[in-house]
Parts: sequence; structure tokens; C-alpha cells
Amino acid sequence: MLTNVLCKPILKILSCLEFITDHFLYTFFQARKTSLATRRKSVDCYTSQMRPPDKNLQHIPVLRDTFTLESGDEHSTVYSILNPQSEETIIDVTLGLGGHAIGFLERIGPTGKLIGIDADPENIRLAEERLEPWKDQTTIIHGNFRDLQSLDLPTVDILFADLGLSSPHLDDAARGFTFREDGPLDLRFDRTRGKTAAEWIASCSEKSLSHIFHAYGELREHRRLASVIVRALQGEKRGFSTTAALRSLIEKTFGYRAPQLLPQVFQALRIAVNDELGALGSLLEHGPSLLKTGGRMGIISYHSLEDRMVKQAFRALSTGTKDERTGGIAVPASFKLLTKKAVVPCPEEIARNPRSRSAKFRAMTKLKIQETRYKE
Ligand SMILES: C[S@@+](CC[C@H](N)C(=O)[O-])C[C@H]1O[C@@H](n2cnc3c(N)ncnc32)[C@H](O)[C@@H]1O
Repeated sequence: MLTNVLCKPILKILSCLEFITDHFLYTFFQARKTSLATRRKSVDCYTSQMRPPDKNLQHIPVLRDTFTLESGDEHSTVYSILNPQSEETIIDVTLGLGGHAIGFLERIGPTGKLIGIDADPENIRLAEERLEPWKDQTTIIHGNFRDLQSLDLPTVDILFADLGLSSPHLDDAARGFTFREDGPLDLRFDRTRGKTAAEWIASCSEKSLSHIFHAYGELREHRRLASVIVRALQGEKRGFSTTAALRSLIEKTFGYRAPQLLPQVFQALRIAVNDELGALGSLLEHGPSLLKTGGRMGIISYHSLEDRMVKQAFRALSTGTKDERTGGIAVPASFKLLTKKAVVPCPEEIARNPRSRSAKFRAMTKLKIQETRYKE
């Protein structure tokens, strides 16, 4: 009781102090930001991930190019691990702008086949232009890799995925993936279906918003953010239709900490709006059965939630089932890991393409089906 009486005013004073400090620091940093911007117009006030929009809509594929390390060895690439051979058939389920696909096509030669899938019709259009020289051996499908089962695909030698978003998504403010510039709060890979981020936020309860910010953005302040969003929605009755409106609310609420939180908030929204983890779960469930014997499956992921799912699924498939009685292998594994540890870009690649810095690549190969059971 006494503790309660003493603690309440102290907590109130502490929270006032936090508010004053936040606002003082926010004002200080805003002023500093303006002065820096005047001195050097191109200074990026946030992270290096955000760049001025690239009007040519380029995307540098990750782990595609060969880099020679100081030791003289060549750093592993998607191709050195998945080892595409002439005449093979490949599915690239995240075609993007076709960067990795071109590398596969060059290796499988004129008798090989490539099937490219992407959820984004705008990227499909760009990829079609780039893959024009190989059009006779390429099939391009607008679709989501969550629906692999219903796409009527053949069995293949390689199944490849390079998850997440492409550079044009970030560079084109009209897509709503970047908070650096104003644009519609959309964040969908596929603008032909589903709810935009703005619509999605408006339809979410405070509890689910808080869960999303916590689970997908790893935000410590998830409860406070969900609460201010819901209060703002109730107050204005207009929702957040633009990236600038959401950013401004976050800046007002979190002051000088906003620049660190904004990437996490936008990442969380993107994962939720596109149900990225649900789609990956489906890919991990159905992708392996599309491989021929000897076929290879490889996935590049960009955040720990995705990488954990890939690692666990590949490990499970590459581990035989033990006989509980004898401890021996009862059912041998039908896959073998091609990457014991995740392959990450070398420092030279990260220096050239900072967006590659969080990439992790894992791969496995399908073994001959061994019907024989462990015999005592
Ligand atoms: C990192 S980019 C791929 C870039 C590509 N490897 C290249 O070199 O140009 C990821 C692509 O996957 C697409 N994508 C994301 N989730 C998807 C899904 N569930 N189904 C199909 N495509 C998806 C995005 O639209 C984006 O074009």
C-alpha cells in the first residue's frame, strides 16, 4: 500500500522526464537534420538502406557475382552451390527483375528451361524485357509461391527463391515500401489483390497490431505504437493513407528514436500485409516435392524469422528418423544439406551492394529414395 503511494508519483515524474527528454532530443535532432540537409543536400538522415530513388529500377542480385577473397579463394555464389548444368530445368519462384534467372539461363544453355514466378506484375514486366533473348526456353508466371501446388508445375532440377523485396520496391515511392519519401501506404508485392497496408491497419485490432510489431518488427515499443495508431485512427477517422502520415505519427510519439524504429515498423507491416511467413511456410512444405532426385533447392532470406524457418525445414528434411528402440536410423533422410552453415555475402559484396548485408543462403539436395529400413 505504502509502496503504491510512493511509487505512483515517482513513476509519473519519470514518465514526464522521458517525455521532456524525447521532445528535447527530437527538436535538437530535427534542427540538426535541417542544417545538415542545407549543407549537403544528399545527406541521408536515416540508414544506408535508403537511397535516392533509382529511376532506372535496377536490382543487384545477391550472391550472384564471383568475388575473389584475400586468400585467393573464390567466395561461394548461388551458382557454385546449386551447380546448374546444361539441359536442366529450373524454377525461380522470386523472378524479380530476372537477375539470378539470367545467370541460370547462361549456365543451362539453349536446351535448358527456366520457369520464373513473381507476385509482382510490374517486376514481371521488367523481367520479360530482360529475358527476351531466352524467351523460347522461359515460361513466366504471375503468381505467388504459396500456391506452388496449384500451378501445375513439372518436377525440376533446381528450385530457387530470393525472398523479400526488390530494389524497385524501395526505390519507387509510389509502392509505399519506403518511409523516406511520401507515397501511398501500400506495401503489397501484388497490387492486383489483397489489402493495402493502410486498409490492413484500419481493419486490425490494437492487440493484433501490437503482436505484429513485436513478432515481425521486434519492436520493444510495440504496445505503445499500436495504442497511438488506434487512438489516431479513432480521432481522425481518416486512417493512414500515406507513408508520411504514419512516419509523422511515429516521429511525434518516439522523438529522436524514430529513425531506428521506422525500418522495423515498415518491415513488420510488409511481412504482415504480404503474409510473407505464411507464403514461406507453404514454399517449404511443397517446394521439396517438386525436385527430381539429385535436384537442389536454395533460398536466400533477409531476416532472422525467415532464416530460422528455412534452417529448421532443411534440417528436418536432412535428418533421418531414429528407431526409438535401437537408436539406429529407421528411415534415412531424403535430403542432404549443401550448406552446413548459411552462406553470407563477403565484405566486398556488401561494400558494393549494402542491401545484401543481411542475406543468408541455405541449400539442400534430394537424395535417392531409400526404401530400405534400418535392420537390426
Ligand atoms: C529479392 S527480389 C528477387 C530478385 C531477383 N532474384 C533478381 O535477381 O532480380 C524478390 C522478389 O520476390 C517477389 N516475391 C515476394 N514474395 C513473393 C511470393 N510470395 N510469391 C511470388 N513472388 C514473391 C517480389 O515481388 C520480388 O520481385
